[in-house]
Amino acid sequence: MDTPFRKHVLLAICGGIAAYKSAELVRLLRKQGCEVRVVMTRSAREFVNPLTFQALSGNPVHTELLDVDEENAMGHINLARWADVVVIAPTTANTLAKCAHGLADDLVTTLFLAATCPVYMAPAMNQAMWNKAITQENIRKLENYGVNFIGPGSGDQACGEIGKGRMAEPAEICQRLLAEPRMTVLQSVKVLVSAGPTREYIASVRYITNRSSGKMGYALARAALQAGAQVSLVSGPVNLSSPAGLDIVNVETASQMYDAVLTRAVNADIYIGAAAVADYRPIAMEKDKIKKQADQTNLVLHKTKDILTDVARLNNAPFTVGFAAETNDLEVYAQEKLRKKNLDMIAANWVGQEQGGFDSEQNALEVFWDQGHASLAMTDKNQLAEQLINLIATRFNEKNRS
Ligand code: CTP
Repeated sequence: MDTPFRKHVLLAICGGIAAYKSAELVRLLRKQGCEVRVVMTRSAREFVNPLTFQALSGNPVHTELLDVDEENAMGHINLARWADVVVIAPTTANTLAKCAHGLADDLVTTLFLAATCPVYMAPAMNQAMWNKAITQENIRKLENYGVNFIGPGSGDQACGEIGKGRMAEPAEICQRLLAEPRMTVLQSVKVLVSAGPTREYIASVRYITNRSSGKMGYALARAALQAGAQVSLVSGPVNLSSPAGLDIVNVETASQMYDAVLTRAVNADIYIGAAAVADYRPIAMEKDKIKKQADQTNLVLHKTKDILTDVARLNNAPFTVGFAAETNDLEVYAQEKLRKKNLDMIAANWVGQEQGGFDSEQNALEVFWDQGHASLAMTDKNQLAEQLINLIATRFNEKNRS
């Protein structure tokens, strides 16, 4: 089975008769290959016994905000971090109102506040409660904060009334959660991404390279595609499958990457230099294998041309985003590179730390631009890429408007 687009689903269940439908939702999500963890409010537990969800999800159900055992096993912050997506189904009028006002007085509302991943709500309530102006205002507020709503549907209600307020069907919720997003923030924008390491040959059988896996660059290319962009990817040698729907050029050396990027950059609107390009290359490549002779030997290296700098120097240069990997004084070096290379934005990350960086599934970024800064917390590289693409799109669109 293919890994679903969102693997870790955190399902929060509030107290409403629709809570029984959430059992089916768990079943459908698991059928799609998702791992599901369930959180229930006290009133949800009045409607359905947590054992049902424990059996269906195969995981213990979380109920208390301040449960000592639970904190040890997986505290609410860890639970929020674990999730690729949070869905509150059913969402009652009460939880909706609390979330809209930033209250966090139980596990569900605290998780909502702690979550950095996308959040979906599937409201379920009496039609009069749904239509009440204050409920509608809360919904608008949450939508403005990026919450996605699924349903509610119209029809007969459990209370005997007819109208809008029935929780969406589990199949619809499942489909919305797992449908790959088609954002439009970069609709038809031409994005060029470089990714992976380069190989600088000493001789035909030996080369110098680095530990870059290319994961971040590939995730950025994928996120740009999902944002509606036309994407070209210039890739060094990596062990990744290329996302469908983009133009990919495979290169090996820094010099090949330079040519491939510069040829395409003249037509690009945005260039994201995520490749770990070698700064130096052997002065010449020996044709034959170099035999070992003396105890010591020297390798003379020449500086490679800086692709990023030369892209930013082009007439009508694209919006240019660089990366910086630093072991110390991250902000100082990142700001210096932003200025020196005349970039629109730089995304800097720590290397040589326990988590993140080269060849890791996760990373965190400090992003700088003229007069601005954003911290993107440690998370899966796919999610991080989505966040960075959103940031790039915002700055790119602002620059184009001004
Ligand atoms: N880069 C480039 N061409 C090169 C070297 C680097 O385009 N020949 C780009 C990378 O794609 C990345 C950024 O420059 O976007 C990374 O710079 P980094 O290697 O951190 O810094 P350097 O500018 O090489 O400086 P230093 O090694 O001193 O940190």
